[in-house]
Amino acid sequence: MQEQTHVYRRLFGRFVTGVAVVLTEEDGEVRGLTVNSLTSASLDPLLLLFCVCNDGCSGKSILRAGRFTVNILGADQENVARHFAGCKDVDAKFECLREDGFVWLNHCNAVFRCDLEASYPGGDHRIVLGRVKDMLGPDACDRLLVYHEGHYGKLQSKSIAESPIEAKH
Ligand SMILES: Cc1cc2nc3c(=O)[nH]c(=O)nc-3n(C[C@H](O)[C@H](O)[C@H](O)COP(=O)(O)O)c2cc1C
Repeated sequence: MQEQTHVYRRLFGRFVTGVAVVLTEEDGEVRGLTVNSLTSASLDPLLLLFCVCNDGCSGKSILRAGRFTVNILGADQENVARHFAGCKDVDAKFECLREDGFVWLNHCNAVFRCDLEASYPGGDHRIVLGRVKDMLGPDACDRLLVYHEGHYGKLQSKSIAESPIEAKH
């Protein structure tokens, strides 16, 4: 790795993120990858974005399918993150649910069901913009999976239970 790239990755590792899995379905197969490049891009309309590596398979499936879900993982889902980051030796337990051509993970902190809005070149990655069609999540979310300096961490927050969240457009 070049010196500049190494320094860049080290410094950017200090930006603590959550961890999400982006899922789509192609030819009846679930495809997906773990991402931490996720961000909320727009509130009107509801848009989110993340970046996918040009060399990866799942990003291409997502772009071809034109729809995907973004699943924000909780503290107990580190193995799920590892699985979708390409680790073959993890015992990841997860359940996929399906509806309206979307596939998503059961028991996540949040799920956003999106149509592909646009994608843009971004160096060795592609920037994927999704239009949120609907979203759901548990009433409270106090145990979070985070990523920092190349390591997973768990965060206990002070989330207060309100009402179950489900919103459709
Ligand atoms: C915490 C974490 C965050 C990641 N974030 C991204 C990301 O935002 N974009 C990306 O392309 N790869 C990211 N990766 C790497 C992919 O998850 C990994 O390369 C995956 O195997 C790609 O799957 P694919 O080959 O099916 O496309 C991340 C990995 C980890 C562990």
